[in-house]
Amino acid sequence: MTKNGQAHGLNGAGSRKRISVLGATGTIGDSTCDLLAQNPDRFEVVALSANRNAKKLASLAVQFKASFAAIADEGAGAELRDLLAGTGIECGAGKSAVVDAGARDADVVMASIVGYAGLAPTLAALKQGRTVALANKECLVCAGVYFMNERERYGTTLLPVDSEHSAVFQSLDEQDGRHVEKIVLTASGGPFRTWTKEQIAAARVEDALKHPNWTMGQKITIDSATLMNKGLEIIEAFHLFKVRADQLDAVVHPQSIIHALVYYTDGSVIAQASVPDMRTPIALSLAWPERLKAESIKRLDLAESATLTFEKPDEVRFPALRLAKEVLKSGGNTPTVLNAANEVAVEAFLNRQISFPGISEAVERTLDKAASALAGVLPDSLEAVTHIDERARDIARSALCSARPAVTVAEAAAPRI
Ligand SMILES: NC(=O)c1ccc[n+]([C@@H]2O[C@H](COP(=O)([O-])OP(=O)(O)OC[C@H]3O[C@@H](n4cnc5c(N)ncnc54)[C@H](OP(=O)(O)O)[C@@H]3O)[C@@H](O)[C@H]2O)c1
Repeated sequence: MTKNGQAHGLNGAGSRKRISVLGATGTIGDSTCDLLAQNPDRFEVVALSANRNAKKLASLAVQFKASFAAIADEGAGAELRDLLAGTGIECGAGKSAVVDAGARDADVVMASIVGYAGLAPTLAALKQGRTVALANKECLVCAGVYFMNERERYGTTLLPVDSEHSAVFQSLDEQDGRHVEKIVLTASGGPFRTWTKEQIAAARVEDALKHPNWTMGQKITIDSATLMNKGLEIIEAFHLFKVRADQLDAVVHPQSIIHALVYYTDGSVIAQASVPDMRTPIALSLAWPERLKAESIKRLDLAESATLTFEKPDEVRFPALRLAKEVLKSGGNTPTVLNAANEVAVEAFLNRQISFPGISEAVERTLDKAASALAGVLPDSLEAVTHIDERARDIARSALCSARPAVTVAEAAAPRI
């Protein structure tokens, strides 16, 4: 996929682009809605979705005069209906309503539901030929080959929203990537970049949620702390940019100014830079192939940034990155298993059931057990992916018992750097 590579199915000149936002109440949803609110002459809203937050969803639906609002949680359906009564806005509840939101007649669907739950609604958008602005990286991790085959089959335009992938997209200057030697994604290093293994072992939920540069949802914030996020992004880049696994790498760049670098065969390196603000890649995905005038986004001042530093990621202190690279090489159902296990383990950490290192331990143990339990099952349809995901979640839940337990209050109170 390159920036010149695909036709776009947008409205003709002069008309507003019709946008749907899946996961409208989340962090990417907030940034997307901010840009939509600032550009009422360019965008109109078709469908919005949430999981449980009926109040915020209803208020956004009214603000943007959406035609459809969908809430995944059946129990929150009645509240949403009450809140939208008399507005003329159609609403729906349950997983199928969110899938329906993805399929509604929009020009661009922002796919920003977190986790595996985003797969079916994003596929629904893709199968209707909507342009998909893809924030939900888990889609490509758990169903990469199938997802990209479907994209091909329906001729859908896929625009990356992850800042690193948006950076690669902008740095690729050729259709077929023939002269691309390697792609390097940058990682902030997360809150534990300078912590020792022992300090990391005693990390509390509060520590892990303190991301140095980005304000994000809880799951991706924990993934950034374990560096699993970078591993998921390497898998995402593998599918998006059709390079070999050994052409992809990550470098730690604590300032999060350079988002990715594309190395060419003649020694040239093209990188993309901006201040860490997700509204920049989101703006590109909404306006592409044009650009928005986003005056509220701070401009990069290199003199003010002072120093840009880079270091190798440490896969000993952060084994999740190693695990993700390994499953990319193994292929088959292992990325689907890794994704499911990681979602279960991150939730257990957030619920203080397991320690921070327990996340990677549970993922590794699940991969070991699933190797025989799911041998030969390929994630080649939505049903097969769902089966692997459910089975891997069961295995992961039992693996939690042998992962290191959450730190005690006394351990957590030990002095930190
Ligand atoms: N945040 C970032 O800066 C960033 C950057 C790059 C990529 N991404 C990716 O973008 C995606 C969203 O991240 P986020 O940080 O915006 O997450 P978030 O703040 O946690 O928001 C998640 C959104 O998904 C909805 N949701 C959660 N579970 C759902 C379910 N089972 N069914 C339907 N909807 C569900 C939530 O609804 P409720 O509000 O009702 O719970 C919310 O609207 C993730 O895949 C992440 O990796 C995020």
